[in-house]
Amino acid sequence: MGRLTFPAGFLWGTSTSAHQVEGGNENNDWSEWERRPGAINDATRSGAACGWWEGRAEEDLAVAAAEGQNAHRLSLEWSRLEPEPGRFDDRAFARYAQLLDEMRRLGLLAMVTLHHVTLPRWVARRGGWTSWSTADCFARYAQECARRLAGRVPLWVTMNEPAACAAAGYALTYWPPALGSNRMALRALAVMLEGHAAAYRAVKQVADAPVGIVLSAPRIEPARASLLDGAVAWAQDWSFLGATLRSLKTGVLQPPIAGRRLRVPGLGGSLDFVGVNYYGRYAVQFDLRSAGILFGKHVQEPTIRTGGCDWGEISPAGLTRQLLRLSRLGVPLYVTENGIRDSDDALRPSFLREHVAALHEAIRLGAEVRGYFHWSLVDNFEWAEGWVPRFGLRALDPATQRRTPRGSAAVYARICRANALGVP
Ligand code: FCB
Repeated sequence: MGRLTFPAGFLWGTSTSAHQVEGGNENNDWSEWERRPGAINDATRSGAACGWWEGRAEEDLAVAAAEGQNAHRLSLEWSRLEPEPGRFDDRAFARYAQLLDEMRRLGLLAMVTLHHVTLPRWVARRGGWTSWSTADCFARYAQECARRLAGRVPLWVTMNEPAACAAAGYALTYWPPALGSNRMALRALAVMLEGHAAAYRAVKQVADAPVGIVLSAPRIEPARASLLDGAVAWAQDWSFLGATLRSLKTGVLQPPIAGRRLRVPGLGGSLDFVGVNYYGRYAVQFDLRSAGILFGKHVQEPTIRTGGCDWGEISPAGLTRQLLRLSRLGVPLYVTENGIRDSDDALRPSFLREHVAALHEAIRLGAEVRGYFHWSLVDNFEWAEGWVPRFGLRALDPATQRRTPRGSAAVYARICRANALGVP
């Protein structure tokens, strides 16, 4: 049996986000959105989610540590910490401090994301990410978090997947604020990137820790060797990833086709590491009816998708290629999300092993990847898809809060404990 060994000190963990696991929050834009008829495909609500706010987090994280994980990525819920403009909530900070202390006790290094999809209702009412003032509010919140929690957080992430948020909620109508406007999506992306840059500086002023951003990096390729497929695949890739990557170097956001270039003050160089979220590969075919997604229909087969959400074709090779591509930014990388919706756990064990092997290949070819966080530790509320997609290494019945390990939890535990993948 061969063995793919990872560098000493490599981080192995899972990834979660506040709204998807905490439960019991009525103060953000998503709790309002969930109440709209038809907004959530299976008509469920996040509800108590995984009960993390009320104490189940400790139990799930203890299992993660016992199974060999040495890190965890979680997010802070802005609406809990700053429920009204400028008023910070001591009790909410105390709860996160308690959780972070417990993670340290368990030997789980914390990667903490400041914005993962949700906005406080007061920010959403002021225009959310279409309003330039949101970038300043976000930096003020980021600095308060860093000031109060600094000693407990070794790795900060400003925000998760800005381009995916801009696409789902601003270009399309799948997430709040459901604007359905490409112009607004470009603006939202620019404001988010300005928010990232401002938060980067704000955190650095008070905390001595690396600060990064997490990007969604699916592999997007033309379905056929045709000029039109090539053009629409390029435009989608540029909107989703390329434009952001370029802007992180140059400070200028360039829309895919026509349109005004937007200069984002302070963006160039505001980066100590990049987190890469990778689920799969899209094959893109020119299609006049797909105007909302830049005339490129996704036709890959077999694929993992629902009516509203498309995680693409399983493609471990795509992860290797994206890591090599992102390593050109010249900063260390982490795989901050990678996983599969698979309630039966039929595909997850091989998905996991093959993606870990693909990650090892990227390192062998020169990418500086320092950790892998599987999505996710336990089934959780999957945004507009509700509770149907099951991404957890542990199954969760949200009604009873009962957890049941899936087979892939043991597969992952073997990898984490050995810091290596055994190859049959
Ligand atoms: C990612 C999101 C994460 C989760 C997974 C399945 O794009 O960042 O919150 O929904 O997809």
